[in-house]
Amino acid sequence: MTRSSSVLVFLAIATVLVAASSAANFYQDFDVTWGDGRGKILNNGDLLTLSLDKSSGSGFQSKNEYLFGKIDMQLKLVPGNSAGTVTAYYLSSKGANWDEIDFEFLGNLSGDPYILHTNVFSQGKGNREQQFHLWFDPTADFHTYSILWNPQRIIFSVDGTPIREFKNMDSNGVAFPKNQPMRIYSSLWNADDWATKGGLVKTDWSNAPFTASYRGFNANACVWTNGKSSCSAAASTTPDSSSSQWLSEEMDTTGQERMKWAQKNYMIYNYCADNKRFPQGIPQECNLS
Ligand SMILES: *[C@@H]1O[C@H](CO)[C@@H](O)[C@H](O)[C@H]1NC(C)=O
Repeated sequence: MTRSSSVLVFLAIATVLVAASSAANFYQDFDVTWGDGRGKILNNGDLLTLSLDKSSGSGFQSKNEYLFGKIDMQLKLVPGNSAGTVTAYYLSSKGANWDEIDFEFLGNLSGDPYILHTNVFSQGKGNREQQFHLWFDPTADFHTYSILWNPQRIIFSVDGTPIREFKNMDSNGVAFPKNQPMRIYSSLWNADDWATKGGLVKTDWSNAPFTASYRGFNANACVWTNGKSSCSAAASTTPDSSSSQWLSEEMDTTGQERMKWAQKNYMIYNYCADNKRFPQGIPQECNLS
């Protein structure tokens, strides 16, 4: 083997090793935190399932805290009659002035559409709901739900299609989540007092246990440990390395068109358009973005 070809082989192996080390492993990245055995890590860490029955739901959280990240997770939601159930998948910090970035999936009767509910909290203030139907049956297969959170923006995406963007409008006095590290949380629970058709449809426990499944976790993220970000060192030594490109990623024109398509066809609630709810004027960020 020539010297240059052995270097190439070495690089190829190194690339494979890096890719493998960031592949999903639920044992490595998450703890099942409640539900008394109803949350399970399976298939050597490739799969996680949460379940809900009449006595309890279940949940898990990431071992790491992150301050910014591009985080993908594949979810397959409770099939059949899932009315009354909620599968929440979100990032959250702690304390009274917490930040939070939410995906919540509100179940429905068989054949009726799930609602994908989204929200952004900054400094303890939320009230920024946007809700969507999906363009596929989210219970038939796994789909990827992603959060891009960098210092300039938060983008929610479904199978790579952006559905919502929340820009950093800090300079206009709208707080943006940017200095509180967040953990990833998920839970499956009973919310039949409000979730389905506004609480009219109750959970049918004869269908229990209800199960939601997770796989394909992937995080390009800054891990926060002991008051320090794993990114500051990497970012200063390799400012434009492709691994940290997400830290300044914006939506390209294709993304903007996809988002318009999703919002036009699938958005069913937008707080920015809810004048009744905000009689003294819609929130400031609605006029800025
Ligand atoms: C349930 O189905 C109804 C009727 O199609 C729909 O209006 C509603 O948005 C669906 N989702 C929930 C969570 O109620």
